[in-house]
Amino acid sequence: LKIGLLFGGQSGEHEVSLVSAKSIAQGLGQNPRNQVMPFYIQKDGVWCDPERSLNVLEAGKPEQIDNSGQFKLPAAANEVDVWFPALHGPNGEDGTVQGMLQLMQKPYVGNGVLASAVGMDKVLMKALFAQAGLAQVKYVALSRWQWQQEPEEWYEHIETTLGYPCFVKPANLGSSVGISKVRDRSQLEAAIHSATSYDPRVIIEQGVTAREIECAVLGNEQPKASIVGEITYNSDFYDYETKYTPGMADLHIPAQLPETVTQAVQDMAIAAFEAVAGSGLGRVDFFYVEASSMVLINEINTLPGFTSTSMYPKLWEASGISFHDLCDRLVDLALE
Ligand code: ADP
Ligand code: DAL
Ligand code: MG
Repeated sequence: LKIGLLFGGQSGEHEVSLVSAKSIAQGLGQNPRNQVMPFYIQKDGVWCDPERSLNVLEAGKPEQIDNSGQFKLPAAANEVDVWFPALHGPNGEDGTVQGMLQLMQKPYVGNGVLASAVGMDKVLMKALFAQAGLAQVKYVALSRWQWQQEPEEWYEHIETTLGYPCFVKPANLGSSVGISKVRDRSQLEAAIHSATSYDPRVIIEQGVTAREIECAVLGNEQPKASIVGEITYNSDFYDYETKYTPGMADLHIPAQLPETVTQAVQDMAIAAFEAVAGSGLGRVDFFYVEASSMVLINEINTLPGFTSTSMYPKLWEASGISFHDLCDRLVDLALE
């Protein structure tokens, strides 16, 4: 079985993808049925052939190999039986690549166009979660254009509806890129400036003091929820540096939670996956506000971090599915 492993990609999470892809290649390599064909997508969006991609995969560092600036499908792509997009963020996790694979009429691992697109967009995702009756933090959605028209009115609206601290986020991104925690008006203004440089649509959320809980989902129809995990760290919030500097965050599996909370998290994870029409995999992230015993959904990640030490595969490992079995199951789900 020839598996086309897509990695790198035109997003702020390019480096994260290199790490995920290396682990996935190793995982898939354990099964003699699988022949991994790596396809590296450069930061400028140009795809590289498997031979040159393999060097990048092994070195684990971004490279600019092809300076043509032109997208071309490498000839070897025609040999692929099933694609495994190991891409995070825009142009990979957001339905764009999924749409292309769909048109190529080849099966691919993970979420389809709709779930990927909705899962990448925090504004649409929250609208669907609300419709599914899932509790979440209060938020305000704002476009760059709306903000530029009436900045003072928006600051006042945000201060009265959300207050401080609040979180300002680009609608479409991941790994905390472009996110700021703000405590006053001048920080709010700077944060909206920053977030709108990543995306013309932003979301501002009420800040909560809560534990960060994550649950993995696997399957197509009748998806299953994993054991529940928790992330702890000493930083102000779970920002990029905390996520990717070894030793700055700790994973706790299983999370020490009352049984009713664990059950609520698992039920909500599946409801969230279904709300976005998920398939294959998803990691659903929550805030658990201990003071009020409230579970709030934060987001779904349709292509969660996938290194051998990432939460998604670790949660399945604790639930009885090894890393390489998980890679195989995802391929099997794509072929269903
Ligand atoms: P990303 O999609 O980039 O992971 P998140 O929405 O998950 O973005 O936010 C990243 C981190 O910022 C969270 O893991 C959490 O630490 C912090 N955070 C985000 N929103 C809030 C909030 N409303 N209240 C408290 N902390 C938050
Ligand atoms: N966006 C990163 C990869 C995650 O959610 O794990
Ligand atoms: Mg997150």
